[in-house]
Amino acid sequence: MELFELGSYSVNRVGFGAMQLPGRGVLGPPRDRDQALSVLRRAVEAGVNHIDTAQYYGPDVSNDLIRDALHPYPDDLALVSKVGARRDAKGGWVTWDAPEDLRQGIEDNLRSLGVDRLAAVNLRLPDGAGPPDQKFDKQLSAMIQAKEEGLIAGVGLSTVTVGHLERALERTDVLCVQNPYNLLDRSSQPVLDLCTDYGIAFVPYFPLGSAFNATNPVLTHPDVTAAATRLGKTPAQTVLAWTLALGPNVLLIPGTSSLAHLKENLAIADIELDPDTKAALDALG
Ligand SMILES: NC(=O)c1ccc[n+]([C@@H]2O[C@H](COP(=O)([O-])OP(=O)(O)OC[C@H]3O[C@@H](n4cnc5c(N)ncnc54)[C@H](OP(=O)(O)O)[C@@H]3O)[C@@H](O)[C@H]2O)c1
Repeated sequence: MELFELGSYSVNRVGFGAMQLPGRGVLGPPRDRDQALSVLRRAVEAGVNHIDTAQYYGPDVSNDLIRDALHPYPDDLALVSKVGARRDAKGGWVTWDAPEDLRQGIEDNLRSLGVDRLAAVNLRLPDGAGPPDQKFDKQLSAMIQAKEEGLIAGVGLSTVTVGHLERALERTDVLCVQNPYNLLDRSSQPVLDLCTDYGIAFVPYFPLGSAFNATNPVLTHPDVTAAATRLGKTPAQTVLAWTLALGPNVLLIPGTSSLAHLKENLAIADIELDPDTKAALDALG
């Protein structure tokens, strides 16, 4: 697999997202705990050394699974989490992003994952957050302080605009940016372009179209299935290969709870998109 320097970690560009491991709706225990543990172990055995997670996946489920499956961790494993939200008693997603909440969130991740330091933590802004303001500056201060104290090796941002990234870059290095991006949703293209200019890792979430829709709009798109048939690959492999080719700073974290899907998702490094297939997929954006 191709590598990317994520701070001091040399990570394979195909990593793993842990959001599909808890139960339905990212709530509660996994449907199949043994399979969830096996997915994590198999991923690392296959060379994955970049795992994305959050304390609020479950809540408290993905991190516990990661620790149970993989602790003590390989030295080269980059664990990346995010703060800025929590779950309420009914499982709703709630913004939790005052500076002291962010700090608490970082500490919760360290404790549950069983580490003294994380490779990066993303400051996750709410969907549709307004332009950078004083609140954002205070949030950044909390992230920068956590970095200076050694709790996190790098500051990341999630669900941000170009304006947020530019403001953050005035104050600190940004190790990674995690925004929604896939074949059908390129709204974060300007953010990806800025990351590319600065050599910052861009980590698209929902790369496969996410699990939140009853029918996956990306994997069932007729042009995607046609391209997959032409390539002799699955729709997921086709989509991931297209995404990986966006740039050397693009790191994939497809989410799956399935060993079979994991195997597919990791077998994409050698897929070459011929010009016609690439043009057909490019045109979907
Ligand atoms: N920063 C943020 O706010 C944010 C938001 C969302 C997600 N994330 C991160 O990004 C990661 C990726 O996003 P995501 O997991 O939400 O969505 P995704 O990777 O776009 O898609 C996951 C969905 O695709 C299915 N899938 C996976 N591999 C497949 C395959 N080979 N064939 C067919 N279906 C397949 C999964 O089902 P199975 O489980 O059945 O395979 C699941 O339904 C997450 O795991 C999480 O770590 C971050």
